[in-house]
Amino acid sequence: MNSATLHTPVLLHEVVDGLAVKDGGLYLDGTLGLGGHAEAILARRECSLLGLDRDRTALRYAMGRLSPFGLRAHAQHASFADFAVHMDALGWDRLDGALLDIGVSSMQLDRGERGFSYRLDARLDMRMDQEADVPTACDIVNTWDADRLREAIARFGEEPNAARIVSRIVTARKKGGIRTTGELASLVEAAYPAAWRAKARHHPATRTFQALRILVNDELGQLNRFLEQILGRMQTGGRLLIITFHSLEDRLVKQTMHRWAKACLCPPSARTCVCGHKPEAVLLWKKPLVASPEECAINPRATSAKLRAVEKLAGQ
Ligand SMILES: C[S@@+](CC[C@H](N)C(=O)[O-])C[C@H]1O[C@@H](n2cnc3c(N)ncnc32)[C@H](O)[C@@H]1O
Repeated sequence: MNSATLHTPVLLHEVVDGLAVKDGGLYLDGTLGLGGHAEAILARRECSLLGLDRDRTALRYAMGRLSPFGLRAHAQHASFADFAVHMDALGWDRLDGALLDIGVSSMQLDRGERGFSYRLDARLDMRMDQEADVPTACDIVNTWDADRLREAIARFGEEPNAARIVSRIVTARKKGGIRTTGELASLVEAAYPAAWRAKARHHPATRTFQALRILVNDELGQLNRFLEQILGRMQTGGRLLIITFHSLEDRLVKQTMHRWAKACLCPPSARTCVCGHKPEAVLLWKKPLVASPEECAINPRATSAKLRAVEKLAGQ
């Protein structure tokens, strides 16, 4: 299989048009994945692109796919939170555009051995970087204190049945623990009240798996670190585009972009502005772009995608 068949990039035309790619421009793809977006960006103009990914397998595929672009394409094994170090290594001061397409690739979901999917039975892992020395989903499920685990599943999975699920997990621990995705998925399914199971649009384990993936990979922490630094490393007029797939990430991106675009940060009670804040960026679109019904029919992953973007203003 080649990279193009392992993952279909979402909102591809919207991303490449939104970045307004120009000749000689410097672009960052912080979630290179299988390189679908990166390839389209490099093909659009004679620009250069730095691609980062925490997943070495994805990176290997992407490097092969981008090799026709020669020295215009750079790929590194890194978290997007550390993008500045890799820009410095290339001698890049400021970017003309940056993209994040956050989440898991179809390749990661479809490879059972990575332990991301409740559909394929495998060892519970969920590390995007297979070599990272961090607790796996198996470690968290089997060792975390019950209250901490319940809170995390409720918060990061937005799971209303977190208490019932954790109660089953605690019982399973006494019988030897939970080792596989299949064991966890069946346990969560059994913990769901029958009426909920009957009306659920998704598998009952979806939210618990999301929570564990966010925890294992510190997904919100990485995104926060990226957002804190990125505008400072962009050119005036440079564009930042972010695709998210769940509401926790989308909320963080939305709130940050709206704060950048605000002229005043004084509390609503203030009669006159005392903060002196100036907008740092403008929103490219008031509402996020979503995939068309046609795209969703071809690529069901696109259904939950939201694309938000800003353009950096002068003076920052
Ligand atoms: C949805 S895929 C990206 C697909 C890509 N846009 C394409 O066209 O093939 C998301 C990728 O982001 C990577 N990823 C997730 N969090 C990351 C992080 N903090 N730093 C770097 N890569 C990350 C995942 O390993 C995965 O390969």
